[in-house]
Amino acid sequence: MSIPIPEKRIADFENLGFGMFIHWGLYSQLGKGEWIQHIHNIPKEEYQKLQSTFTASKFDARHIVRVAKAAGAKYITLTTRHHEGFSLYDTCGLNDYDAPHAPCGRDLIREFVDACNEEGILPMFYHTTLDWYNPDFDDDFPKYLQYLRDSVEVLCTRYGKIGGLWFDGNWSKPGADWEEDALYATIRKHQPEAMIINNTGLSERGYITNPEIDSVTFEQGRPTPMDREGHPKYVAAEMCHTMNNHWGFGAHDCNYKSLAHLIETLCACRKVGANYLLNIGPTGEGEIPLMQEALLRGIGDWIRATGNAIYKAKPCGVICDDGGKDFALRDGNKLYFFVHGLHITGDGNVVVERGENNSAGCFTGIPGTIKSIRWTDTDHKLSFTQNGDKLSVNFTHFPYGSDLVVRVAEAELA
Ligand code: GLC
Repeated sequence: MSIPIPEKRIADFENLGFGMFIHWGLYSQLGKGEWIQHIHNIPKEEYQKLQSTFTASKFDARHIVRVAKAAGAKYITLTTRHHEGFSLYDTCGLNDYDAPHAPCGRDLIREFVDACNEEGILPMFYHTTLDWYNPDFDDDFPKYLQYLRDSVEVLCTRYGKIGGLWFDGNWSKPGADWEEDALYATIRKHQPEAMIINNTGLSERGYITNPEIDSVTFEQGRPTPMDREGHPKYVAAEMCHTMNNHWGFGAHDCNYKSLAHLIETLCACRKVGANYLLNIGPTGEGEIPLMQEALLRGIGDWIRATGNAIYKAKPCGVICDDGGKDFALRDGNKLYFFVHGLHITGDGNVVVERGENNSAGCFTGIPGTIKSIRWTDTDHKLSFTQNGDKLSVNFTHFPYGSDLVVRVAEAELA
């Protein structure tokens, strides 16, 4: 039994490493998340009035894409239509519940794709499969599925090359025939290189539901290593997370994760080769909340300081002997050690010792002879001893003046 070779689009997707998720729609105007219509039982007629106030007056696609770029994200997955059923794109007559028929009068997906193309970021489309707007979803499901396919066809034919489709909602009718083959065939016909992803929801993380699926999802979880041995296809993995407790804008949600937490989470994803898809929820007018922008910029600073080790380097069977969080990735003749829990050194009057240094620096499974090891942030060389596939590195503490949470050392193999 062997591990299948990934198709090119899947290998390319894995190399992107880090993406930005965006939840934005009519619901953003209420500032209470994207499920507000359902959770607060807002009558449909009432809810639909939100279209008449949707101006997108502060939606600057170029700015959002630049923030993603500064964060080190290589792709953006934007909600082209969420469960509320409102489309940010021109549905080309499928219905009028779309952005061109709102006061904004613009095709916001066009703006988004243009900005991504200009900045070299890959655009991906989130699309709901569950629909609270279209009555056919409950009354005539086959007819609804045709509407869904027609909607996806619009997205696949009017915006040039796209990175992929990210579906969400099949978990709402677990036993139903979603005619997935026909939906995915529509995508393959127009966008053969697009990634096809279908979120399995909170309770079914990491499951493959259809042979066309190119990546599994780990919504709000921790990705586990993929078991690819003997499988007919190599499937990527992606973990999506909120920064606070809402996907769509939560005006009163200040329960943000820390920058340190986000950095460690990004590392935990790359440890098993999964991508990290981190969400922002713009305001009703389309602006990124300051806190979210700041956290993203912090992640970008970390990625740059650590020598961009999160993109192409992959799991390589190196094991951290003390069972701690530390791990190594490989990219060609380079190994990258991700080291957690280092102290800061300095004068006792300013530097507070924070527990034990948990980085013993001992690894097994080293795939060759190591010539040298250096910190990516300072370029300082590290001393080490190697015995066969065993390695012991003398990881030094953070010098006063820096604390990167997770520090990355680059080793060169002979
Ligand atoms: C869940 C939610 C949805 C959100 C998605 C993101 O499926 O229903 O609102 O868009 O997670 O992963």
